[in-house]
Amino acid sequence: MVDNPYHAIERPRPGAIGWRIHYYQELSSTQDAAARLAASGAEHGTAVIAETQSAGRGRMGRRWHSPPGANLYTTIILRPKIALAEAGQLSLVAGVAAAEAIESVAPGMVALKWPNDVWLNRKKTAGMIAEAVSNSDQTLACVLLGIGLNLNLAADELPDELRAHATSVLIETGRRCDRPALAAALFSALNNRYMEFEARGFEAIRPVWESYSALTGRTVTVVNGDARETGVVRGIDSSGALMLDTAGGPRRILAGDVTLEGAYD
Ligand code: BTN
Repeated sequence: MVDNPYHAIERPRPGAIGWRIHYYQELSSTQDAAARLAASGAEHGTAVIAETQSAGRGRMGRRWHSPPGANLYTTIILRPKIALAEAGQLSLVAGVAAAEAIESVAPGMVALKWPNDVWLNRKKTAGMIAEAVSNSDQTLACVLLGIGLNLNLAADELPDELRAHATSVLIETGRRCDRPALAAALFSALNNRYMEFEARGFEAIRPVWESYSALTGRTVTVVNGDARETGVVRGIDSSGALMLDTAGGPRRILAGDVTLEGAYD
């Protein structure tokens, strides 16, 4: 049996985020393992952590670079009582929790880039993905909330194609972090923010998200397939959509890749 370095941070209260942690040396993706656990009835708050992923998934069909020994790759099974269409809001809730956890090891450097990137010094150090699993009647069965945090990855371990846009806590602070301690901080923050979301909806999370926003007041371009919009970000609305003022009037953006003018100069 594989020794589980995350066993000590399991939370005593059944149903709290991270109350049970399934740890694996290697998985294709923690999303796949969580999907199997969810299908066999795993409870809300159950987490999967892998040391490495051979086919880690990012948004929009991208791969998530998942080498062993450095980072945190986790999927949490959530069973919220919300509509299927609202499931995506959980990736913004997770963004706030990840920002709060990373803030504890990299104070003053953390920002959120809509929809789901956590930045350190304007480079991506974490990403979230919320995969909804539906019932046959199109109601929400559960959400597989995947979170990847680049923690102790050294600069020379970043593949060339990621170097301009990605970073890690180690690269930005010069300090390694204790991965189980960081996972505990993440699960605790997510548990708190999830309870607020459950009680008062996304509106309860929006001001905290805005307080970390790297985009508000800035000019951005959003690309989604063939669609492209440039404008000034006004913030996010009560459903988590990006509000943009463009030359053609206000736009409400539901999905896309955002480029901030001058972000990587
Ligand atoms: C993104 O920013 O594109 C989302 C990245 C999500 C990566 C995490 S790592 C743990 C979980 N397992 C995966 O295969 N993906 C998510």
